[in-house]
Amino acid sequence: MKTISLTIDGRRITAQEQEKLLWVALDNGIYIPNLCGLQDSSESSAACRLCFVEVEGKEQPVTACTEVVSDGMVINTRGGKALRLARSGFELLMSSLPVDCAHCAKNGSCELQKIAHHLNIKLKSKRLRKLLRELPIDDSSPLFIYDPNKCVLCGRCVWVCRERLGIGVLGFAYRGFERVVTTFAGEPLSESRCQECGDCVRVCPSGALVFKM
Ligand code: FES
Repeated sequence: MKTISLTIDGRRITAQEQEKLLWVALDNGIYIPNLCGLQDSSESSAACRLCFVEVEGKEQPVTACTEVVSDGMVINTRGGKALRLARSGFELLMSSLPVDCAHCAKNGSCELQKIAHHLNIKLKSKRLRKLLRELPIDDSSPLFIYDPNKCVLCGRCVWVCRERLGIGVLGFAYRGFERVVTTFAGEPLSESRCQECGDCVRVCPSGALVFKM
């Protein structure tokens, strides 16, 4: 692969041709909000719509997780248009999530807190009406708890269980507001083929999957 050079937020950076912009930026210490991106995966679902950046010469912001870097590219991760889109996406996401950081095991290491801080936006949006689901919490696993109400539907746990471990205990079910990550036929985790490796918990960006203390 050819080494190329690009500029992100005024910083000259080298990368490999064909790399995705999100990982180039993160690897170089430049944070771009992201939830659904997976560095190990060649495909990105681009579902969370948070990783918008502005690329010189392009009229509209692009998602960094799908944008392939090229030589001479000039990127602004803090452009007004990109930040507006990311903030709207984040507010929409948070409108269907409970916010109770003080009682959440991910408090302090939650990606949602990091994104809110980066975008200079509150976790509890006043602009959008809150529409919460009331799904049962699965604490049947001896290792971890799964609270689907806190799930951001990024798909990281689904991907890691299926692609990296070849098990596929978790998957998506239903569409739209009903969409949920669940086991086959909604069986409790303790009755599924889960082997309790804990990798799904490690990749979960929110408090949906947390280890038992
Ligand atoms: S990380 Fe790019 S759309 Fe989710």
